[in-house]
Amino acid sequence: MRGFAALVLAAGKGTRMRSRLPKVLHPLAGRPLLEHTLTAIEGLATNSETSAPGEASDDPPPIVVVVSQDADSIRSAFAGRCLFATQSAQLGTADAVLAAQPTLSSLSPSPAYTLILPGDAPLLTTKMLRSLLEAFRQSDSPLALVSAQAPDPTGYGRVVRDERGRICAVVEEKDTSDWQRAITEVNTSHYCIRTDWLWEHLPHVQRNAISGEYYLVDLVEMAAKQGYTIPTVSAPLDEVMGVNDRVQLAQAESLVRRRILERLMLSGVTIIDPASTFIAASVKIGQDTVIHPFTTISGSATIGSECVIGPHSVIRDSQIGNQCEIVGSWLEEATLEANVHVGPMSHLRPGAHLATNVHLGNYAEVKKSFIGAGTQMHHFSYMGDATVGENVNIGAGAITCNYDGTPIKKKTLIEDGASVGSDTLFIAPVTMGQGATTGAGAVVNHDVAPGTLVVGMPARPIRRVHTKQEGESTPPTPPDAPARGEGEE
Ligand code: UD1
Ligand code: CA
Repeated sequence: MRGFAALVLAAGKGTRMRSRLPKVLHPLAGRPLLEHTLTAIEGLATNSETSAPGEASDDPPPIVVVVSQDADSIRSAFAGRCLFATQSAQLGTADAVLAAQPTLSSLSPSPAYTLILPGDAPLLTTKMLRSLLEAFRQSDSPLALVSAQAPDPTGYGRVVRDERGRICAVVEEKDTSDWQRAITEVNTSHYCIRTDWLWEHLPHVQRNAISGEYYLVDLVEMAAKQGYTIPTVSAPLDEVMGVNDRVQLAQAESLVRRRILERLMLSGVTIIDPASTFIAASVKIGQDTVIHPFTTISGSATIGSECVIGPHSVIRDSQIGNQCEIVGSWLEEATLEANVHVGPMSHLRPGAHLATNVHLGNYAEVKKSFIGAGTQMHHFSYMGDATVGENVNIGAGAITCNYDGTPIKKKTLIEDGASVGSDTLFIAPVTMGQGATTGAGAVVNHDVAPGTLVVGMPARPIRRVHTKQEGESTPPTPPDAPARGEGEE
């Protein structure tokens, strides 16, 4: 039997964000604010330390999130991960908790105590939640809370203590007297409350005269007046800061970014300049990879070991094998096998798949195409909707013309060992056979037979290409045929 549940308050208007997007869906290090909170709560699972005797430790506690009526986007973003309760009018944090009473009460077993957490404090850690649970369990108080020292406490509720250091109340900034306003110990909005005591006292919270809201913090004064010594867990502000506006969102971003980078550095990734490196929490990077400055890696990207990434690279949702090098380039939903070089200034778009030892140089663009092992494409070329074989050389300026104005893009197939001359245009759909060669400026609008040299516009066969296995057969060369395109380095 698990003794507690977690309740997250996320129904506030988020007015200070000045956004049409609900506050808890704003991304922080690439993930919505609320997801950070849910992850910290879920971390309470699988650790026997969190369990009081008789409690299972395998499952996370049930999580209820209070949302406003028009929060379909939040519900669908987190469906299956938590239960939802609806607060129909935003009448304050006490009212939000009350709105969750039916959902919490329907849980089986009924939670003996409830962690109540703000949806807008995404830097919290599982460790801090464990300390809060521990402080609650060791005390007879019906309520425990987290506080922090804030050099600038503006905007936070102040924790007011008596001369013996016992908590008397939490006073919201608008209600503070001058001396209370100077208090730097602030309420972080993380509580652990005995559930039956909560339901008994919540209806007695009075509407605040200034804001017209029902404040959850008023429970603190009620417990103090009942003679309880309210335990507090003191947390660094870095872990509990609230995100109310976009200035605080940026502050939180820089804190969480630093955490992610430190975790990566401690796991064996070199980050040359953390200040100019942006990596999302979900990204995985192997050992001895070096990340150079001005690099952003986001989404579900995974990067192998011993890679060199950056400077000036942007990588989103891409899978990169070991020992790859990405210099000053932009990758989206691309797959790179091992030992691939890209850049500088290339662009891999969704569906680009580069096999081992592929070398892409400057201004290469690849979309929805497979580029076979060992193929080289060094200078300003575009491969779209193409399948390119192994060890192909793609000369400067070669382009697949895959779009003819109709919705279905046309495919180009370039077989193993082909040599594509500079400025070749492939008028798709078209196939260039194995070992074939195109001359510079060839406009290929018909399939090219394997082992054949084609030149001109439209490209026409000139002769068989000399290979080790066969002698050269030479059909007459038209006088105006352009010279064969140079292979590019
Ligand atoms: C709150 C605390 C304050 C504390 C600060 C810490 C109260 C009254 N104040 O202030 O003591 O120092 O957090 O960051 O609790 N919410 C609802 N429904 C509502 C109102 C709010 O669900 O009707 C949710 C919000 O979505 C938010 C959380 O409750 O996640 C806190 O509300 P917010 O308005 O951000 O309170 P603060 O002014 O930050
Ligand atoms: Ca807040």
